[in-house]
Amino acid sequence: MAKGKASSAFFCQNCGYEASKWMGQCPACRTWNCFVEERITVKSSPAAGSAKAVSSGRKPVELKAVTSGKEERFATEIEEFDRVLGGGIVPGSLTLVGGDPGIGKSTLLLQVCQKLAAKGKEVLYISGEESLAQIKMRADRIGDFTEHFKLLTEVNLGTISDVVKSEKPEVLIIDSIQTMYNEEVNSAPGSVSQVRESTGILMQLAKVENIATLIVGHVTKEGTVAGPRVLEHMVDTVLYFEGDKQDIYRILRGVKNRFGSTDEIGVFEMGEAGLIQVKNPSEFLISGKPEGASGSVVTCCMEGTRPMLLEVQALVCDTNFQIPRRQAAGCDFNRMNLLMAVIEKRMRMPLGREDAYVNFAGGMRIFEPATDLAVVMALVSSYRNKPVDDDMLVFGEVGLSGEVRGVAMAKQRILEGRKLGFTSCVVPYANAKQLTDVEGIKIYTVKNIMEAVNIIHD
Ligand code: TYD
Ligand code: MG
Repeated sequence: MAKGKASSAFFCQNCGYEASKWMGQCPACRTWNCFVEERITVKSSPAAGSAKAVSSGRKPVELKAVTSGKEERFATEIEEFDRVLGGGIVPGSLTLVGGDPGIGKSTLLLQVCQKLAAKGKEVLYISGEESLAQIKMRADRIGDFTEHFKLLTEVNLGTISDVVKSEKPEVLIIDSIQTMYNEEVNSAPGSVSQVRESTGILMQLAKVENIATLIVGHVTKEGTVAGPRVLEHMVDTVLYFEGDKQDIYRILRGVKNRFGSTDEIGVFEMGEAGLIQVKNPSEFLISGKPEGASGSVVTCCMEGTRPMLLEVQALVCDTNFQIPRRQAAGCDFNRMNLLMAVIEKRMRMPLGREDAYVNFAGGMRIFEPATDLAVVMALVSSYRNKPVDDDMLVFGEVGLSGEVRGVAMAKQRILEGRKLGFTSCVVPYANAKQLTDVEGIKIYTVKNIMEAVNIIHD
């Protein structure tokens, strides 16, 4: 293509796949009806740039000679937020905060701004979605802000760039990337090229001016507005804010992090005055557990370094359909079917004519094999209509022959259960050695699901 010539291409608005012609389905992410034509301007070829780099006398350096300097982070004092980031916001980093519209992204970031401004950091919040009055109304619910917090409503990136360069904030919030536009790109705000180009400019700003930048990105369903997935590879850190809108609980999850691990989650509760941290998620996850009900079993999963108790619910009942219904909420559907097949074969329990539903209470989505044994116990308990002891904790991975396999961090899981008043637990035999010094809770070790069922139902 000739240099500087404007032309057009089709982009998948879900994942950013580029094609020269329109397609009904994206070959990369399999979404239907997601291609939109966008004009693109071809910039000068990169080959010229690299030739310049060689002639400018740049040389590789030895890794040993590079000094890393002390790692600095802006801790927000919102522990649940800091933990997900690995200790706080890194200066000069670019973070994407994705989530469904209305989940609480703006609220979360406003609270982060409040804390940082209170510590004397210069914070600039640029909104393309709400008026100053609307932001003020939300801020009033959250509390007092210091004079270090400044607001701007703007969508033109050229203007934003100028303002940022003159204001020189230490922290910059862009709410949201889908409303921003760059005059040099001809497509509409929210399209893949606009969103990418805008992020590129913000990335430059963040690195050159050393500004910690947080970008809000809405997860979109309709496919005409580019989603945050398009940007994941461009930014340093990707966080997703998830949860049921009907539910008050929200989970902040790290998906990518160049400055820390991605295993950690932060749990929040949406309240009258913004988001409140939930420091002990186990308590809320099992708070609604019915007493003496069949099909309800408590297990312990790990989220990063944090053990979390979780109620597994199962309902097994005779089917009224040709093909029995199976449904999984919060857990892997295929895993649930596999575990049902193991029960059917190894325990000779005829589940083929039964509807089955499995639900992880509290709106959590957990795909950890350590929850297997609890799913099995819940299914068996519901099928037999015999409850599992309310004070019993169950965990372990289940294999295809019905064997119960060991899991990582068994001790932490048991201690979390003990802390919340559980008096006994069923754990894999393979973990027995690590648990010899655990006191105050009765431990049953099992080698297979038959042994486990005998313990809970004898
Ligand atoms: P918001 O942060 O605007 O969501 P997003 O930026 O992700 O689109 O949050 C919107 C929801 O949060 C809205 O339904 C109202 C609710 N909310 C509260 O319940 N309490 C509060 O204190 C605040 C500020 C919002
Ligand atoms: Mg918002």
